[in-house]
Amino acid sequence: MNPSSYNLCFLGFGNVNRTLAQLLLDREQELRERHGIVFRITGIASRRLGWIADPDGLDASVLRDLTSDQVPGVSRAGAPALQNVRAWLSTARADVLFEATSLNVENGQPAVDHIRAALDHGAHAITANKGPVVHAYGELRDLAAARGKRFLFESTVMDGVPIFSLFDQLPVIHLQGFRGILNSTTNVILSEMENGLSFDESLKKAQALGIAETDATHDIEGWDAAVKTAALITVLMDVPVRLEKMEREGIRGLSGEAVRAARKEGRPYKLVCRARKTESGVAASVGPEQIPLTDPMAQVSGASSYIYFETGIFPGLAITEENPGLYATAYGMLADFVRAVGETHSGKVPRPEDD
Ligand SMILES: NC(=O)c1ccc[n+]([C@@H]2O[C@H](COP(=O)([O-])OP(=O)(O)OC[C@H]3O[C@@H](n4cnc5c(N)ncnc54)[C@H](OP(=O)(O)O)[C@@H]3O)[C@@H](O)[C@H]2O)c1
Repeated sequence: MNPSSYNLCFLGFGNVNRTLAQLLLDREQELRERHGIVFRITGIASRRLGWIADPDGLDASVLRDLTSDQVPGVSRAGAPALQNVRAWLSTARADVLFEATSLNVENGQPAVDHIRAALDHGAHAITANKGPVVHAYGELRDLAAARGKRFLFESTVMDGVPIFSLFDQLPVIHLQGFRGILNSTTNVILSEMENGLSFDESLKKAQALGIAETDATHDIEGWDAAVKTAALITVLMDVPVRLEKMEREGIRGLSGEAVRAARKEGRPYKLVCRARKTESGVAASVGPEQIPLTDPMAQVSGASSYIYFETGIFPGLAITEENPGLYATAYGMLADFVRAVGETHSGKVPRPEDD
């Protein structure tokens, strides 16, 4: 197989994209030998780092330093500082953008603009950020199709578990509803509170795992779970969702005593996401519920997550993800990359040189 080479750009360089860069480097040989994919990292950007780009591939010292907090300035000596995402993508000659900036619940920005710029530039856009899916799915999907590129987002819900691609494999199926535990941070907090830790100590544990949102109130107040619920409804049920219309309650109001008493009586608290088709659209909610031990959701502890889909064909289809780490999220983006350029190889979408 003749390998094809791709220039990769990382926008946001926190927990997720650093882990992804490391995973790509770990799997470099396998990607080349088994999938015919060769890559070089030509762009890294964040607010603090600025827009770093080198079309020949960033210096090896940068990539060696991937797990440290500081990425040394690596713009080419004498090169003018880049000012915006479009100039950066162009200088880096990006073929693929990995977007992993922080969630903006209100409007998904600036990630929506980042992805729009990448697709306009002629790159595939892959994101772990739920904001663009909830706020601009239709527009970005259509733009990707018009450009012959892919807009993929498998890591936005249940990390790298192939939820969206599973439904790609299920033509003419009708999703009637789902329920599940989709926010790992609150599940870690509830599990640790059951073990006797305070709310704040439990939150620190989740943050140490790297799974909490940049602003952890998004987890605690149920926003992250609500945005994931909205993303699933938007993409899989084809119904646009207004987040502010969704019933949403977080776990802030639960005391340690209440959480431990609920576990003791065999009905532990879980932050549950629900969606169900109605005559007028979809009814959706996120909130703490006491779950009987006979329900598999009661067994989902720590960073694990769970979803139960109801479809006409499969009345109940459940997926449990046990204790994922950051590598699971990074893997979802890597798999999206292989999927996007694999489809390019197979002729499903035009190759970059055909544009
Ligand atoms: N962590 C997980 O387990 C997980 C799982 C699934 C999905 N996600 C999603 O993945 C995304 C990233 O998560 P993370 O854990 O990597 O967060 P993180 O560690 O807080 O990193 C966020 C990165 O985004 C950059 N950033 C934030 N706002 C920006 C802006 N306006 N422009 C440019 N860069 C910006 C930050 O750098 P500066 O501060 O320098 O700008 C930082 O590099 C989030 O949307 C999250 O919801 C995370």
